[in-house]
Amino acid sequence: MFGWADGRARRIEWLRTGRQGVIVPPVVPQPVIAKLTRAAIFLVVRINPGKESEVAVRGLCADLSSLLRAVGFRDLEARLSCVMGLGSDAWDRLFGHPRPRDLHPFKEIHGVHHAVSTPGDILFHIRSVRMDLCFELASQIMSRLGTAVTTIDEVHGFKYFDDRDLLGFVDGTENPTDHDAVNATTIGQEDPAFAGGSYVITQKYLHDVKRWNSISIPEQENIIGRHKLSDIEQQDSAKAPYAHNVLTTIIEDGEQLEIVRDNMPFGEIGKGEFGTYFIGYARSPHRIEQMLENMFVGRPPGNYDRLLDFSRAATGSLFFLPSATFLDDVSPEDIGITPSSEEAPVDAERRGADPSDAARRHPPVSDGSLGIGSLKKKANHE
Ligand code: HEM
Repeated sequence: MFGWADGRARRIEWLRTGRQGVIVPPVVPQPVIAKLTRAAIFLVVRINPGKESEVAVRGLCADLSSLLRAVGFRDLEARLSCVMGLGSDAWDRLFGHPRPRDLHPFKEIHGVHHAVSTPGDILFHIRSVRMDLCFELASQIMSRLGTAVTTIDEVHGFKYFDDRDLLGFVDGTENPTDHDAVNATTIGQEDPAFAGGSYVITQKYLHDVKRWNSISIPEQENIIGRHKLSDIEQQDSAKAPYAHNVLTTIIEDGEQLEIVRDNMPFGEIGKGEFGTYFIGYARSPHRIEQMLENMFVGRPPGNYDRLLDFSRAATGSLFFLPSATFLDDVSPEDIGITPSSEEAPVDAERRGADPSDAARRHPPVSDGSLGIGSLKKKANHE
């Protein structure tokens, strides 16, 4: 499905010959920009102490695509997908050097409101139009990991009428699509060793729905910057300076820095819990961090996002998403064999490491492409 066996063989061939002239398949990203779906599971786990836990997690990296194939094949129309992200500490435990350039723990923000930083080694973002498929894949992943991990947070999200959040506004309208989405989320030549990867920030927001519904609809619209019923954006001249869509618009060097969001409502009526699981993908965490700074501290400071008067961030984590090619090539046994960042792939092979693992650390990204051809291949399958 990913053409991984083919790609792996050709990368190994490249290592054997050491020749630059061999055509190398592009790196395939994970399905970060999968189409928005009706259901999702967000699973954050901690890797338990011990080498055996690390071996189990590395084993899952390599097996994830086959688990996905097996569950997804039950209903191809249901567009099951799974994205696996790794936190900063988990990366160091599992893979060491080299490490993705911008990977770090989520930075807590103390502004007018507080963005907490909460632990998490692995994120699984599982999406489908059918919750049963999401549930089955999550169960398969967790049973494969067994005692190697402990669940820290699990949220089952659903789409609410017209793709609205539980505050009643349509969420996701201004997401970039197609090439713009790829460009917003896929690492390119700025970090060649990790080209095809991505970053993701997640935050679980809990709403005070009663208080939100006690303010007038025009007040709500000024907070979001859009009309509630029609979902039409307010005229720029009519927007409040603190509107959510003003503070989350980042322009640098004349270019708007976009992210791809796939937020989901979730809740438990009995507990009185109503929330939005925020998930934002980007090729650099910087742009999402800048949006958060604007929301929590304000732009300028004090001009903060009034949405936060009604909604509290209960979690906050940052993960790196290696490419699907990287995950496919992980070898469970390679724990502790960590070539230094200077070591060439051929040297790694000579010293006995799995050659495909060495290729992963130094992928021969030579054509500057982001693997969009392969991405299309995968999208067609989905
Ligand atoms: C309680 C949590 C949140 C809720 C309920 C929420 C809701 C919304 C809604 C209703 C919109 C307008 C429709 C759309 O374009 O999607 C929107 C836009 C947007 N949100 Fe949020 N959001 C939340 C948190 C965040 C966070 C934490 C970020 C970034 C760190 C963010 C970034 C954006 C961006 C970039 C846009 C598009 C702005 C534009 O270009 O017009 N949101 N959000």
